[in-house]
Amino acid sequence: MASTSANEPLTASDRGNPVLTARQPDFAPGTGLSKEAYAAVSEALGKVLADSYQLFIKTQGVHWNVAGASFYGLHKLTQGQYEDMYAAIDLVAERIRALGHKAPASYTTYGELSRIKDEDKPLDAGQMVTMLTRDNGLVCESLREGLALAEQHDDVVTADLLTSRLAQHEQNVWMLRMHTA
Ligand SMILES: [Fe+2]
Repeated sequence: MASTSANEPLTASDRGNPVLTARQPDFAPGTGLSKEAYAAVSEALGKVLADSYQLFIKTQGVHWNVAGASFYGLHKLTQGQYEDMYAAIDLVAERIRALGHKAPASYTTYGELSRIKDEDKPLDAGQMVTMLTRDNGLVCESLREGLALAEQHDDVVTADLLTSRLAQHEQNVWMLRMHTA
């Protein structure tokens, strides 16, 4: 549980805390969580944001470039998925801000934070589905880690957001798998 108050300014001793050292806060929200919670949950959300952006562009790439007999179904399916991710990206970034931290906003940083591999090579429709199925599963892993951390720190709002994202990405995996079943 909290060992420091959310409203206290950071002190030199905070430098000894690896979580706070990794990402210093922008402001103290004063909404009842510990400084450790704001930092740790923001950091986890940053990874979810990075994963979501990486998968967003790869999903839109499939929407643009898919060809063959499954074109129409995959074109429509991926449109729904990337539109959902586009909306979710804003919610995740704004949650980081509500927790007092800066939201990462560069492709370089996303590449460093994300477990989704950046790739743009010619694929057939089946390979595209395999890629997106795997990547949606990887986002689920980041979401589960963030969810566990949010629950550990009693951050129910973040836990609620990440639970709804997890439901969506699990559904994405199911819908994509059915294309190759
Ligand atoms: Fe389109």
